[in-house]
Amino acid sequence: MTDLRGATAELHRSLYGREPQGVNGAAGRVNLIGEHTDYNDGFVLPAPIDRHVWVSAAPGIGDRVRVHAADMGDRAEFSLSSLMKDPEHPWSDYIRGVARVLSDEGHRLIGADMAVHGDVPIGAGLSSSAALLVASLRAFASLNRISIAPEVAAHLARRAENEFVGVQCGIMDQYVASLGEQGKALFIDCRSLEHRQVELPRDHRVVVVNTMKSRDLASSAYNERRLQCVEAVRIIGKREAGVASLRDVSPEMLVKHWAELPPVIQRRARHVVTENQRVQESVELLGCGYVDAFGELMYDSHESLRHDYEASCRELDVLVDATLEMRGVAGARMTGAGFGGCTVNLVEGDYVERFTGAIKEKYFRSTAKQAEVYVV
Ligand code: GLA
Repeated sequence: MTDLRGATAELHRSLYGREPQGVNGAAGRVNLIGEHTDYNDGFVLPAPIDRHVWVSAAPGIGDRVRVHAADMGDRAEFSLSSLMKDPEHPWSDYIRGVARVLSDEGHRLIGADMAVHGDVPIGAGLSSSAALLVASLRAFASLNRISIAPEVAAHLARRAENEFVGVQCGIMDQYVASLGEQGKALFIDCRSLEHRQVELPRDHRVVVVNTMKSRDLASSAYNERRLQCVEAVRIIGKREAGVASLRDVSPEMLVKHWAELPPVIQRRARHVVTENQRVQESVELLGCGYVDAFGELMYDSHESLRHDYEASCRELDVLVDATLEMRGVAGARMTGAGFGGCTVNLVEGDYVERFTGAIKEKYFRSTAKQAEVYVV
């Protein structure tokens, strides 16, 4: 296996002619279940993947930050005293955003030389952006000797993404990038932010399959879904006290107010309400070792995302449907925002190799596209 952390240090030496003071990383993530629930104050169950973004850092000149992004073949330079977005180097906005929130928190940062290198596929729904945010936050923190608790780091990273980069994501990705432990899932209550590590089944592997379909429409569709959830809360909240988000809507309440909701809003709300239940049930099932029952919930989640939330696409459906007749697969579903990106599959260890070959072949036969497979 390539040592990417070492390679990032090596890159730093060759770019700047001296040792980095440190190399910090953060992992990408896959969400096992709990999709489009985080911004509804609900529950999620993501897990880190064994792929990372690494950021090296050494003191720079004055208040200048120089960053080289190996995977983009690009570099950017900016001053810490005038932090603005850079449309020519949009990837650097994540690093600028982190510098901005740290400065806003009252930290006086020194200039820095940095190199970024990683193996989290970009634009695949595996949160390379949250990994970049958390890795660069850790890099700035260690260079400036600032100690930041992981929960705080997650919040700062999200603020950088929401307020500086301008992406209206929930808290899930930054939280798992900051607090996730390899080989475990992280159950998060996105309202209270209580969280705990959840053991993954021993005899199964988490296998990610990348459709390689770009998620062009993802951000507009994502924002549209968010607004539809707000609309459901507005309508139900007029009749029910204490409904501040879809998290507060029980299945019974949804039935009671069903006829008051326009058809599209009915379906969006039903997805979120049932998905929250599935996440809570999943954590219990995994705790008891009921892997197949958890797998069924993964399939249910996919169906709900496909028909009610309409966040799937043909490629994702092909991948999930292809697993139905395969041996050794406990469950499969789309993961992340959707509209492209990846599926997550829970596959018995002994079947992983066979699964990998079969899923690639079936996908190619249906779509003429080559899928990529990552075993977590
Ligand atoms: C993206 C967002 C997350 C979450 C998922 C959908 O990954 O960044 O906050 O909303 O979509 O579950």
